[in-house]
Amino acid sequence: MRYPLKDGERIWAEETYAKIQKKLKAECLRVGSKIPYIARNGVYEEDKAETDIIWWTNGFWPGMLWQMYHAMGEEMYADTAREVEEKLDKAFDIYTGLHHDVGFMWLHSAVADYRITGNERSKARGLHAAHLLAGRYNPRGKFIRSWNRDRSGWVIVDSMMNIPLLFWAKEVLGDPRFGFVAEDHADTLMKYTVRTDGSCNHVIVLDPETGELLDTPAGQGYASGSSWSRGQTWAIYGYALAYRHTGKQEYLDTAKKVAHYFIAQTDRTGGIPLVDFRAPKEPVYWDTTAGMCAACGLLEIAEHVPELEKEFYTDAALKLLQAADERYCNWNPDEDSILAMGSGSYATEHDRHVPIIYGDYYLVEAVLRLLDKDILLW
Ligand code: GLY
Repeated sequence: MRYPLKDGERIWAEETYAKIQKKLKAECLRVGSKIPYIARNGVYEEDKAETDIIWWTNGFWPGMLWQMYHAMGEEMYADTAREVEEKLDKAFDIYTGLHHDVGFMWLHSAVADYRITGNERSKARGLHAAHLLAGRYNPRGKFIRSWNRDRSGWVIVDSMMNIPLLFWAKEVLGDPRFGFVAEDHADTLMKYTVRTDGSCNHVIVLDPETGELLDTPAGQGYASGSSWSRGQTWAIYGYALAYRHTGKQEYLDTAKKVAHYFIAQTDRTGGIPLVDFRAPKEPVYWDTTAGMCAACGLLEIAEHVPELEKEFYTDAALKLLQAADERYCNWNPDEDSILAMGSGSYATEHDRHVPIIYGDYYLVEAVLRLLDKDILLW
């Protein structure tokens, strides 16, 4: 049994899947191969293919379409996802400005295509992206640099979701180097990012010559030492996936430790995460997207624990999903985006309490997981 669902939970998942099908069919016909990011008043106005082809979230729309194609077999989803994949070639051409988020961008577009259809051109795109990611490795500090310009020692916890691209390349090429880089990176991050209480730094700054820890800036959280909720979820899901790909027990233990902290925090707010668990009481800022990423991470953990523990992680994921569904999901097929109340970061206003594409992606992945209709794209 992949997930121990009770009857009512299965019915909820099936009903939600029916709503997802209706919503995404209409949205796919309306949005097509534009690359959506944030919906405003029920409309995805901005097309990232036009405005910012190297933006880190550009893989989530094709990822959602590939998930739907895998679940339903409707060609419209595959055709549209492949159009987006082709547009992303422009990001390779630009090259300058590409960052560690090549994992988020190409795992869900080209690599998904290759996994599902065996498209050789997609495989080449995925391997190109994997080489770019491996090329960012610092062998002294044993980490992959996240960003560009003068930030050669900056690493963010989000990177844990990019390294599955390296595990995939290792498998496809039969070349262990990609696994060495991914594991070194995960080990370094585990040492400096995950705190003993299960909370995490978002950003660590390492000396690029020696790997020594120099600083822990606030990043997208409230302050240095605080606890940005989506960062927590990147650690939960990222380490659970690292365990899947390596079998290293300490990765699963880390995912569980961060998960326990996250569950305790979100229990206090009815399953809707604050943007930062260690911010002042006022103003109150929410980030529903963190709940969806966490749900997928918790479901991933549930797959790797003994039978008796599965229910704990599955229930925790369901609590997050159902809280979001009850309070913040828009199932009107005439409007773009499902999940409202996402927030990009603690400090920015333009992306506060808005629907963001990755919230929808993780919601869809989680519901498909519950029904065993997903494909693992990580
Ligand atoms: N930097 C990735 C995120 O906003 O979660």
